[in-house]
Amino acid sequence: MRVQHTVSIVGAGPAGFALAAGLQSNGTSVLLYSHPTHLRHANHVRRNGHLRASGLMEGSTNLRVTTDMGEAVAFSQIIILTVPSTGQETVVQELRKFPLQQHAIIAIPGNLFSLIADLDVGCIFETNLSPYSCRMEEGGLTVLGKKELVFIAPLQAGDSVISPAIYETITNIFPTQLKWCSSVVEVCLANVNGVFHPLMMLMNAGRIESTSGDFYLYADGLTPSVANAMVAVDRVRIKIGEALGLRLKTAVDISNECYGQGFGDFVDLARNSPPHNKLKAPADLDNRNISEDVPDLLVSWCCLAEKLGIDASPIRAVITLAEMATGANYFEEGRNLRRLRLEDVTREELLERFGAVQRNVVLSNGVETCRL
Ligand SMILES: NC(=O)c1ccc[n+]([C@@H]2O[C@H](COP(=O)([O-])OP(=O)(O)OC[C@H]3O[C@@H](n4cnc5c(N)ncnc54)[C@H](OP(=O)(O)O)[C@@H]3O)[C@@H](O)[C@H]2O)c1
Repeated sequence: MRVQHTVSIVGAGPAGFALAAGLQSNGTSVLLYSHPTHLRHANHVRRNGHLRASGLMEGSTNLRVTTDMGEAVAFSQIIILTVPSTGQETVVQELRKFPLQQHAIIAIPGNLFSLIADLDVGCIFETNLSPYSCRMEEGGLTVLGKKELVFIAPLQAGDSVISPAIYETITNIFPTQLKWCSSVVEVCLANVNGVFHPLMMLMNAGRIESTSGDFYLYADGLTPSVANAMVAVDRVRIKIGEALGLRLKTAVDISNECYGQGFGDFVDLARNSPPHNKLKAPADLDNRNISEDVPDLLVSWCCLAEKLGIDASPIRAVITLAEMATGANYFEEGRNLRRLRLEDVTREELLERFGAVQRNVVLSNGVETCRL
């Protein structure tokens, strides 16, 4: 008999609504939480009486939405966070009010959430990307793409062991295949939005501002010289992996792996990948392609690289340009070593904590080997 799973999803934006609709259509019982000061999408859906979906998901769905975190915590021991990483601390403040020792939290995407969360929780998992590529307008969800594969890892704290039942539940409920990684750092390095988004935004800043984003960000904006800059950033990302004993794929190959595609390079992907090539640019630079991906991905990559003795100047240059263009102080406010609680950790301790390790987990639905 099929087990009826429950999931609470914290974050009622396109990624949260798409995941909720996908899980519910698969037989999982879902409660969606929207923070009371971030009700934009939830209010539209409430007014419409249901969620309207188009694109890869078609039709109307009724979803239960709450603004009461206590209700979300009581509803399920699996809590999936689908707020941008810039919103994770706000929801952590709410979560902290409740006992969570029996709960598993999965942060989509993590961006090293588990290192900053400071929560007394059963376990925390992080993914690199959202299972769905989607946008939302006036309560209407457009699903542009669905990944075939998402990278995931738990935070391994000391020798603590996470029960195989948790892995099994996560494997069963997730709408994509999961690639189990050696650590949350490997997962964070697989969030290739850090390679794509900031450079596409910054190298097209004039065009974004003069057209209010009236062009295709990937198909028009990711041209060969933009791709060259991405390759330079990507090389640093791959070198961080090498220092940790990981053989990371290029950003294009990770995207190919997640979407089940086979593009040869950045420009090929930008022109020809259906989930990407019809995406309009945002109307201005005040967008999470910068405000999330620069402080929470590039700053952490840059600091980790420098701690490991790697020349991170291409990444440092992108962060500096983003700071000059926006006036923000991303090195200070982003996920730097102090905020990741890695400031006093030596290079050797970093390698010991996040270097590649191989462990196996056997699930009851067959033998499955997970790299943990
Ligand atoms: N959508 C995609 O195709 C896609 C693809 C890959 C990865 N992702 C990642 O998945 C995550 C969620 O994506 P999304 O498109 O659903 O994002 P989103 O619409 O920007 O945010 C999701 C929800 O979180 C809320 N939120 C934002 N800041 C918050 C805060 N400080 N405290 C509490 N709630 C807050 C938003 O409210 P407001 O509407 O009021 O801001 C929204 O309801 C992001 O990290 C994104 O980078 C998304």
